[in-house]
Amino acid sequence: VKISVMGTGTVGRALAARLAEVGHEVVVGTRDPAALLARTGPDAMGSPPYAQWQERHPEVGLVPAPEAGASAGLLVNATAGTASVAALTGAGLADRPGLVVLDVANALVFGEGRPPTLAVANTDSLGEQIQRAFPRARVVKALNTMNCEVMVRPDRVPGDHVVFLAGEDADAKQVVSGLLAELGWKGSAVVDLGGIAAARGTEMYMPLWLSLMGVLGTADFNIQLNRG
Ligand SMILES: NC(=O)c1ccc[n+]([C@@H]2O[C@H](COP(=O)([O-])OP(=O)(O)OC[C@H]3O[C@@H](n4cnc5c(N)ncnc54)[C@H](OP(=O)(O)O)[C@@H]3O)[C@@H](O)[C@H]2O)c1
Repeated sequence: VKISVMGTGTVGRALAARLAEVGHEVVVGTRDPAALLARTGPDAMGSPPYAQWQERHPEVGLVPAPEAGASAGLLVNATAGTASVAALTGAGLADRPGLVVLDVANALVFGEGRPPTLAVANTDSLGEQIQRAFPRARVVKALNTMNCEVMVRPDRVPGDHVVFLAGEDADAKQVVSGLLAELGWKGSAVVDLGGIAAARGTEMYMPLWLSLMGVLGTADFNIQLNRG
């Protein structure tokens, strides 16, 4: 599948590199490729300049957002959650009816000296906002409950830990499950929570995830379900 990854931060990079490694044709979409490649300092989240990463990953193309949207056989949303609808609008998602969108984003709002908060919660979620903004796209929320290195290499964490799916379209969830298998997720690790409204729960797990990272001192952890 031709995969377009919207997102030039650590998450977009991790997913793009790994999806290319497992055999997909992958491009990363951005608003201004030239400006991105010209940047010599770290990005907003402290990641090294994209050009350095690009040099190590010539197999991943970098294209303007509209081109990424137009060429996608599957689109990954790895943009800042508070800007995701704008970023996907820029990618022309409205003109791609039926396109499967794997949404891994969280709508975190970062502030000075306090833990991040959620821009949307409780009665709504980013997954739902994206599905409402692009009603003809097939949005599947997944992978947003873990660090991006765990997303693409689940064996970094021992045990039968899980990845959640939420979305309205069964076929789209099937497509995403196939992709997860390619990344190394066992079928038994995929927990389908139902419709896209279930994204609320996975997104609202973020404050607990952030606390756990603080306490554990690592991002290499994940949820394991043990039922009686
Ligand atoms: N860090 C993790 O391990 C992790 C785990 C789970 C989920 N997530 C989620 O994954 C997403 C990506 O995180 P990240 O740290 O890699 O990157 P990020 O810094 O949160 O987002 C960078 C991306 O957002 C886009 N963006 C920012 N403002 C924009 C705007 N006004 N309009 C259009 N696009 C805009 C940028 O586009 P340009 O390239 O055009 O500048 C860039 O591609 C986030 O939603 C995050 O919450 C992260």
